[in-house]
Amino acid sequence: MLEFSAPYRKIVLCIILISKYSAAFEKHWLPDLEWQTANNWVDGRIPEIDSRVIFPQQTRHAVGIASANNLRLSGIDLPSQGFLVLPRNGKLQLSNSRTDAKVSKWSKEGNFFWADPVNWNGSSIAAPDLERVPCRQDNVVLPSVNRTLSILLPVREVQVSSIRLSNEKQPFLEEEWIDFQDRREFSTGRFTVKYTELNLLYLAMRDCPRCFCQENSLNDYLEEICAIQRPRCGFTDCEYPLTVEGHCCPYCGGRVSTSEQISLVMVQTAADEALEGYTEKIAWHTRRSWNGGVEVLIKEKGDYSGIVIQEAVENLREMLQTTGIHVTNAETAGAAMKDSRLAVTLGPLLGTPLVLIVLLLLAFLYFGYSLEHILSGCMEAVSSVRDGIRADKQKHGFARFENIPEGNVRIADLSGTSGGEVDDDDVVKGITQVAGGRFENPLYRSKRDKTEGRKILDAPLTLATLKSQIDDQLENKEMDTEE
Ligand SMILES: *[C@@H]1O[C@H](CO)[C@@H](O)[C@H](O)[C@H]1NC(C)=O
Ligand SMILES: *[C@@H]1O[C@H](CO)[C@@H](O)[C@H](O)[C@H]1NC(C)=O
Repeated sequence: MLEFSAPYRKIVLCIILISKYSAAFEKHWLPDLEWQTANNWVDGRIPEIDSRVIFPQQTRHAVGIASANNLRLSGIDLPSQGFLVLPRNGKLQLSNSRTDAKVSKWSKEGNFFWADPVNWNGSSIAAPDLERVPCRQDNVVLPSVNRTLSILLPVREVQVSSIRLSNEKQPFLEEEWIDFQDRREFSTGRFTVKYTELNLLYLAMRDCPRCFCQENSLNDYLEEICAIQRPRCGFTDCEYPLTVEGHCCPYCGGRVSTSEQISLVMVQTAADEALEGYTEKIAWHTRRSWNGGVEVLIKEKGDYSGIVIQEAVENLREMLQTTGIHVTNAETAGAAMKDSRLAVTLGPLLGTPLVLIVLLLLAFLYFGYSLEHILSGCMEAVSSVRDGIRADKQKHGFARFENIPEGNVRIADLSGTSGGEVDDDDVVKGITQVAGGRFENPLYRSKRDKTEGRKILDAPLTLATLKSQIDDQLENKEMDTEE
């Protein structure tokens, strides 16, 4: 029996709970954007020497070629939007174009959203979508320092308990994290991921009745997640799907709830005990519901069959009641449904193609919404962090070239360069100084120079074109100096 009367016991209990559960709330960022990862190339074809490399027009994310040493390619088709993260002092050579060059295509396209549940692990598959992305009490783990990171931050401000790199034990201090928003690796935009205030207090209060995943921005943030998640809902394979708070799709599974404001950990412990024998078949997730009660969500690991869920819900209900917890509701999503049913009922009437078109249209509507919703905010905060995320340890720097109509990359007029901007950064110099001239690198362009409404070129720009332009300009420059 636990006794809660003496205050010091509460404190001891808190400390035990903190130490027991804090490790369990880590969420890792999963996307891998490395050049050397076979999965990132169509058919697993990592570029070989003298290959030609093609990026999709709308790559939009950053691709890390840093670990590929001394790369020699016969051509690169650059995306109209996207980033290539180059190694410092690494070499990227272009050989003469060959018609027989092997072609490697980058297989990924589009942004990687912070608000996308599939980009994170660390939560049960039974958890609603909102709780699969980092919550206020979660510790976020970003990929190790030698990997490329490209995240589109949420439009709404969200809070997390801490952020660390996977190769580091200690998370960033809050000040360090805040400093990143001024770093040039991050393209401008709102820096919407913040540290939760009063970290320890929240940790200790994980059990508090009003501690939700993300508090203030709940609806907007959920809508952001759902704009991504809804088009993936697919077929609902149960008869009476549940509506689960923070989840974007109909939920085929079970739920046992209590409206009492009791300890989450107590329910969790009871659930772990009651469902112990089912770990192969089901997953469960204990959460604080929005009315302050506690509920256990149960989901099958494979397709929904209904039978296992029914049994598990029954077991759990009994276990909770014998523990003295009043169960207000125990429900399942009913019988399983076969996917073919949709085609069977509608098929003869409308013909499958029509059904497909309608489904596609619906999907596009949702998708269209998501694009508009997210892009209109223009809060692009793609971040690309390379080696040495901390300035003092920085080993890599990189340049950013924009595919813009006027000039593309050019050797800037040295006398005309606005001084001081580049000078303070040795790392950058290593890359941007070429034969006495400098590339115009938008990363370091003066804010005053920014012209609004630049049009992005329609045609993809090849690196070969780029190179010849640079060569031309270099020649011109040399001629100028000789005269
Ligand atoms: C999440 O992913 C990371 C990195 O891929 C891995 O090290 C970790 O074990 C995973 N955690 C869980 C709970 O699956
Ligand atoms: C990053 O470093 C780790 C160990 O230092 C190494 O195992 C891993 O292969 C490196 N990854 C890349 C992409 O360079």
